[in-house]
Amino acid sequence: EDAARAAEFQARIDQDERIEPNDWMPAAYRKTLTRQISQHAHSEIVGMLPEGNWITRAPSLRRKAALLAKVQDECGHGLYLYAAAETLGTSREELVDAMLAGKAKYSSIFNYPTLTWADIGTIGWLVDGAAIMNQIPLCRCSYGPYARAMIRVCKEESFHQRQGFEIMVTLCRGTAEQKAMAQNALDRWWWPVLMMFGPPDQASQHGDTSTRWKIKRFSNDELRQKFVDATVPQAQFLGLTIPDPGMKQNENGNWEYSPIDWEEFKQVLAGNGPCNRDRLAARRKAHEEGAWVREAAMAYAEKRKSRQLA
Ligand code: ACO
Repeated sequence: EDAARAAEFQARIDQDERIEPNDWMPAAYRKTLTRQISQHAHSEIVGMLPEGNWITRAPSLRRKAALLAKVQDECGHGLYLYAAAETLGTSREELVDAMLAGKAKYSSIFNYPTLTWADIGTIGWLVDGAAIMNQIPLCRCSYGPYARAMIRVCKEESFHQRQGFEIMVTLCRGTAEQKAMAQNALDRWWWPVLMMFGPPDQASQHGDTSTRWKIKRFSNDELRQKFVDATVPQAQFLGLTIPDPGMKQNENGNWEYSPIDWEEFKQVLAGNGPCNRDRLAARRKAHEEGAWVREAAMAYAEKRKSRQLA
């Protein structure tokens, strides 16, 4: 009977129907979506840390207001995504606990430090640029709650990307020192950003099944290439040099890049990136210090319930 149901399920996917929480779905579909959506949620939450580091040091009130808004947006994205993951049957507490225990993944990119203000521009320009490239197709993902959450997330990400690019434009039109700071940030972030798209296609464990289920619409390498092609003209506009001297444009117009250091990616995923330990420690501290808020909310909910019953 399960085989018949799985065939029926695949037929719905093939017809571009949306799968909703109460629909029948293969256990593996539920599992891989819970994995991806929760990793995505953790990335948004951990992603607040590198930029949060610059809120008190933003160079002007306008920059500070934009950065504050951006970091708050990321918190909101994390919350929508936890809510979307919960519709698959795992509680937010369980998902968050797995992250705090270091058992769940979050994006490799957030394990790198933000050393100067130019890093904030570069994160907006490249990290959010890469996130948009990856997330726009997720608006058409087969799972309804995830696809719908992605629409608003993508609108906000596009504001984040512009905010970052504008910081880069300002720095690149500024003093020689500011321009050098922008170049230095690009030098440090370029390769880690290319790793955000995940391992090369032949090493992507989930790629094929996720494509068959229309969770993924493009492969890791396809999205990485689209991103590189979109970014090269932007770097040229800024007058910055991508730290890949071997890069060249082929006859199809695509920019071919040099091999990526997948050993570095592996190390970051294994918990040995420059900031993995700091990031988890910061999340654990925030979680512990927020315990009283969760307890107060629960106590309030209980009180309301007993009042309604009385
Ligand atoms: N950082 C950390 N882990 C990664 C990364 C990365 N950049 N890329 C891949 N991985 C992990 C996968 O999660 C998977 O691990 P798992 O089996 O333990 O879950 C493993 O490496 C193998 O990768 P794939 O088989 O290619 O995994 P998948 O098909 O899920 O593709 C991808 C990875 C593209 C990241 C996909 O999960 C995705 O699109 N996720 C949603 C977007 C997202 O999470 N973005 C977060 C960063 S953007 C932001 O938050 C601003």
